[in-house]
Order: sequence, then structure tokens, then C-alpha cells
Amino acid sequence: MTKEQDTPVFDRIVSLAKRRGFVYQGSEIYGGLGGTWDYGPMGVRLKNNIKNLWWKKFVDDRMDMYGVDAAIIMNPRVWKAVGHVDGFTDPLCECLKCKRRFRTDHLGERAESKKCPECGGELGESRQFNMMFETHVGAVRDSSSIAYLRPETAQGIFVNFKNVVDSFHPKLPFGIAQIGKAFRNEITPRDFLFRTREFEQMEIEYFIRENEWEQYFEVWRKDMREWTKSIGLAQKNIHELEVEGADRAHYSKRTIDFEYSFPFGRKELYGLAYRTDFDLRSHSEASSVDLSYQDVESGERFVPHVIEPSFGLDRTVLAVLLEGYTEDTLGDEIRRYLKLPSYLAPVSVAVFPLLRNKSELVTRAHALHEILRKKNFVTAFDDNGNIGKRYRRQDEIGTPLCITVDFTTLEDDTVTVRDRDSGEQERVKQDELGMYIEERISRV
Ligand code: GAP
Repeated sequence: MTKEQDTPVFDRIVSLAKRRGFVYQGSEIYGGLGGTWDYGPMGVRLKNNIKNLWWKKFVDDRMDMYGVDAAIIMNPRVWKAVGHVDGFTDPLCECLKCKRRFRTDHLGERAESKKCPECGGELGESRQFNMMFETHVGAVRDSSSIAYLRPETAQGIFVNFKNVVDSFHPKLPFGIAQIGKAFRNEITPRDFLFRTREFEQMEIEYFIRENEWEQYFEVWRKDMREWTKSIGLAQKNIHELEVEGADRAHYSKRTIDFEYSFPFGRKELYGLAYRTDFDLRSHSEASSVDLSYQDVESGERFVPHVIEPSFGLDRTVLAVLLEGYTEDTLGDEIRRYLKLPSYLAPVSVAVFPLLRNKSELVTRAHALHEILRKKNFVTAFDDNGNIGKRYRRQDEIGTPLCITVDFTTLEDDTVTVRDRDSGEQERVKQDELGMYIEERISRV
């Protein structure tokens, strides 16, 4: 057994994510910054593939959806209006001895015993801590210039409701979707990408008539489940949790959490909420701008209600990595690879010359790589180390197909294609390669 084999599987995945350029610690050379992570070259591709799939499925492939990309820093009155300035809080308590801070609701029984889980010291009284990051807009730094980094993308949608209605005159029901960054000054960021201070959300506000809310809640519940299937998550790992009254956000009349069986426990992956007309009504009152909707046929005017499917992108990346991480034995070696759906894999096809010091092989491999790139496959070229090592590297990235140009290629124009999951190889004619790959790989 190698040393890595003795570490918990979650640590092995975090280590692979770093080694293969998926995710690095934020500001690593300065010792990091708690709750921040940077995506490397492979992580960006994986994340973009997920975003593109989501956008295609929920925006481009539908007639009832409109996309926006709103500013991260919004007028602070937005956050006052919907109760975030006063109420976007988590309960915090501090150890009087070691000064470490904890979320009171994460302490379980220790909260009652008032003992610090780190040093055993006495915990102080629990108080509410606002999680919004503050900044100042403009040159003057006083209370009049305070603004917040948005803690949810949702409000960028609500404040553009009237703009979208005025530009497109959509019929109800319709949705507005957004993908973007959100920021929360989490008390205890933890578990890699799970709880971070800067993250991305993919959110939809789906506007409906009040009497339709139960019907559309069910529709979105199914759509969210379908989404988890489309990104390859095993359904045994997905659990729906009905969130009870006291645990629901102040704006929600019903919430279901889609939980995932993470190695550190069953935890929220996504949320589905019925936000009623809370946000549009609150913004109407605070801004004095009428955010009601007029039905063109009946002439009826009312404030629409909202179903909100909310998807955390970084938690999606984490779940996809966890789900894909596989170990098997190939030959007599333990092999680690990412069994990603081909349309999410950061690289679709890797091309190798069998030997890097044989110029004919290298030239042919470069030419083939260029042909495949022009066919819009996402490709990698690798001539570093022996073929076994190159396969291992691509396996850890999750590349579905590896192509080797070898001496037989020079004789009969065939190449070796190796399948990531089975490790099996077959010879394919070079001029049939495009079709062959197209059949084996799906794209978003
Ligand atoms: N607009 C509704 C909303 O923001 P939420 O349950 O607070 O609801 C929605 O967040 C999703 O955003 C979560 O289900 C999760 O996927 C993601 N999320 C929330 N806080 C996060 C954090 N600190 N780090 C990473 N993802 C987070």
C-alpha cells in the first residue's frame, strides 16, 4: 500500500484536485485565506462545462426563461428591503479561552455544556452575526457609503423583474435565471468547496400565480432531481429534506433541501423554496416602483409569487468530483481516476506520440492533435514520460479517450484508442477517428 492509500478518501480527492490542477487553496503562497479556493486549468473547464449544461437545460432549451447577469454590488437598500441587513445572520459563540469562534447551531450538545470543542474552555453567550461582507462605494468611507457584496444572486433577478417584463412582455409562468458569484462571511468555512466565503450560485426565480405554487413546486422538484441525474450523481446519494418552519429562511413558506451524501455527512447540495411574493412586494414598497404584473388577456394586475430552485455551483463541482472518483486495479497497480460523464470532463481526447524522441511520431501526433482541435474537441497533447504515466495523468483528469500514435500508425494510418474506464485499447483508422470520437463522447 502506498502512503496515500492510508489517507481518508476525501483527502485523496482533495489531493488529486490540487495535483491535477482542479482546485488550489486561495492565495496559497501567503498561507491561504480561509474559505477561499482557486480553480486551476482543469477545474475551470469542469466548472464551465457544468455551467454551460445548466444554462442550456434551464435557459436556452426553454421558451419561458430569461437570463441576466446583474452587478455583484447592489444598492444597499436592496438588502435592507428584503431583511438581509437585519436578519442575514448565523448564531455565533466565542471561546473565552482560545478565542475561536463557532456556529452555535453546529455545536450540537456541546452548545448546552458550553465547552469549547477545541480547547475545552468556556464558551461565551451566543449572538447573531451578520454574514454579509461590507465594502464602501466611492471615495468617502463613512456609513453613507456602505455597500455589500451580494450574499445570493437572487436579488439581482428580483430588481430586474420589471426590466425583463418591459422588454419581453413574457406570459406567466416564466423564469429569470442567473449564474454568478455570491459572498458570505461564514463563521466556520469548512469541508473544501462545501462551505466557502466566496462561491457561485445558479439560481432561477420562477414567477407564477399564487394559486399555482404547489403545482410548480412539484415541477421544479422533479426538474432538480433530473438535473442531479444529468450530472451523473447516483440517486442513492440524493435525499430530499423537508425543511421545518423554524429552520426555513424568513422569506420561505416551503423549502426542500436536496442533500448529498458527502463523506462528511448528508448535507445540503441545493435548495428549492417557495418565496411567495415576499421579494417583489418588499422591493415595491421600499423603492416605490410598482412591481406588479398585468395579465394581458384578463387585465388583472397582481404581484407574482415565486418558486426558487437554487443550485450551488461549487457544491456541484465537489459532488461531481466525489461521485467520479474511482479506484481500481489495473495490472497490479492501484489506479485512481475520475469517471466523469464525457460532456463534463475537462479534456475529451488526449493525443500522445509513443516516443518523444522519434520525430516522425511527434510530427504525426501534433498533426492529429491539430485536426481534432479543429473539429472542436477539447484536446490535450502529452509526450512527457512513459505511456503508462501519461495514461495515469489523463485518468486522474477524467479524460475519456487517449490516442497514441505509434510505429504501426506510420505503416497503416491507424492509431491506438484507449478507453478510460475499461483500460481497453483498439486500433482505429485515422480518417474514421472524428466519427469514432463523436460516437463515444457527448458534448454539452
Ligand atoms: N437564494 C437562496 C439562497 O441563497 P441558500 O440555501 O442560502 O439559498 C443556495 O443557498 C445554495 O447556495 C445552497 O444550496 C448551496 O448549494 C450554495 N451555498 C450556500 N452557501 C454556501 C457556501 N458558504 N459555500 C458554498 N456554497 C454555498
